[in-house]
Amino acid sequence: MPTREEAVAALKRHAETEAPKDLRAAFAADPGRFAKHSAQLEDMLLDWSKCGVNETTLDLLERLAEACDVAGRREAMFRGEKINTTEDRAVLHTALRNRSNTPVIVDGEDVMPKVNAVLAAMADFCHAIRGGTLTGATGKPITDVVNIGIGGSDLGPAMAVLALAPYHDGPRCHFVSNVDGAHIADTLAGLEAETTLFIIASKTFTTVETMTNAQTARAWLTERLGEDAVGAHFCAVSTALDKVDAFGIPEDRIFGFWDWVGGRYSLWGAIGLPIMLAVGPEDFGRLLEGAHAMDIHFRNAPARQNLPMMLGLIGYWHRAICGHPSRAVIPYDQRLVRLPAYLQQLDMESNGKGVTLSGEAVAGVSGPIVWGEPGTNGQHAFFQLLHQGTDIVPVEFMVAANGHEEKLRHHHELLLANCLAQSEALMRGRTFEEARNQLLAKGLGETEAAELAPHRVFSGNRPSITLLYDRLDPHTLGRIIALYEHRVFVEAQLFGINAFDQWGVELGKELATALLPVVETGEGAERRDGSTAALVNHARRLAKR
Ligand code: F6P
Repeated sequence: MPTREEAVAALKRHAETEAPKDLRAAFAADPGRFAKHSAQLEDMLLDWSKCGVNETTLDLLERLAEACDVAGRREAMFRGEKINTTEDRAVLHTALRNRSNTPVIVDGEDVMPKVNAVLAAMADFCHAIRGGTLTGATGKPITDVVNIGIGGSDLGPAMAVLALAPYHDGPRCHFVSNVDGAHIADTLAGLEAETTLFIIASKTFTTVETMTNAQTARAWLTERLGEDAVGAHFCAVSTALDKVDAFGIPEDRIFGFWDWVGGRYSLWGAIGLPIMLAVGPEDFGRLLEGAHAMDIHFRNAPARQNLPMMLGLIGYWHRAICGHPSRAVIPYDQRLVRLPAYLQQLDMESNGKGVTLSGEAVAGVSGPIVWGEPGTNGQHAFFQLLHQGTDIVPVEFMVAANGHEEKLRHHHELLLANCLAQSEALMRGRTFEEARNQLLAKGLGETEAAELAPHRVFSGNRPSITLLYDRLDPHTLGRIIALYEHRVFVEAQLFGINAFDQWGVELGKELATALLPVVETGEGAERRDGSTAALVNHARRLAKR
């Protein structure tokens, strides 16, 4: 077996020599190309045939995966080994959705009974709130839920609640994350205290944004309903149960999770409470089942048929071998509007690292910049750059064969046609000859056609992956999220980094804490660097403090 370095070197040589550069020709030469470069789980199809890879590329990528022991590390994760070495923690978001209920052992203890107990407590709570038997302090049923959290305690539930809008039959859900007072002020402006439930969601229960918003929400509620109403209008989700107690939230309204669940991997348990309130425990269960189906597939399917493995290997190819710095995720699904933001945290907080597992500087690169917007909107904004810009951005499309709006079938067909057309256009491009002939056919003269043609040339050979599935239901959403979680894992193993810590968020937090009194009083500004001092002083002058 080659070493990691040898496997990477072989891939780089291959990229310069044999890897397909002309995708039109590659499709023309091999009618079996799509079959060789796609894989399926249930109805869900992953197509990477429009990327510049051939079977040798995949062989070499698999050799790298072997050299990095991706399969061994995957087993270590599922078995509950402490693969998050810098925090000495197991990584077991998969246990939260382990619908097979097989034992998962951490420190000699099977965690499944406590996972199931929290899910059961959440279900009881949701049934009571949704059924109106658990009311606000004045006896009115809860109509609105405000989740106060940030990062992993916000993005997952906010994304999933939107994605599952057709399944909503519970209270309306709102999400407040930003410490900017505008966020909570605008949210509360439309709400009645008597019918509002707040969820304070924070793994650590120390995050300054969440604690600040929680105190503001508490003051808003007590001003209207009095101190005694807090218990009936708040609940909490945290691993720090002692800290929640001090807020005045009764024990039976606290839903726990554990340090072996990373914040950005946490929507499958108590952090998913807003999702369960919105769609009900049954559909929440279907979300977990979808993710579990992807877990089983990831653990067992051979590499070429393994969706997360292939998405990870191709992602690594684009980032580390081809050198593309970013990737765009473009869901052709308006309800997945927050998926790119969710994936930004999942991917960039996990794989945006500069040192390897052993603390040495990463040789080469680590995770890419992830960004995106739903199609078709993106087409009328940044797709110009995707098609003709000087940087190559691999695109990841996702689209359902069926929408939920039966009466608007035509909309969905347009959506699907646009999605497929974009990947076709990126791959095929348009040659100078084709552009010129098109212009001539429109009646332009030779000179004018020759002048305009260069502007209408598309280089083509721009890579894209397409994920196509039946319908965006809870099961499918669970599969999509788990697919991306595991792809991030695969890429982390290839980069040789720890995907499960996030030390890079610390310095800014420390400096913000230190700067707060400077902003408040102006004292000590002169001890900061010249820029920071001048900005503080200018802001204070404008704020007239
Ligand atoms: O600052 C980053 C981070 O720690 C994320 O990893 C996490 O999801 C988020 O803050 C929120 O943390 P908490 O759930 O502890 O409030």
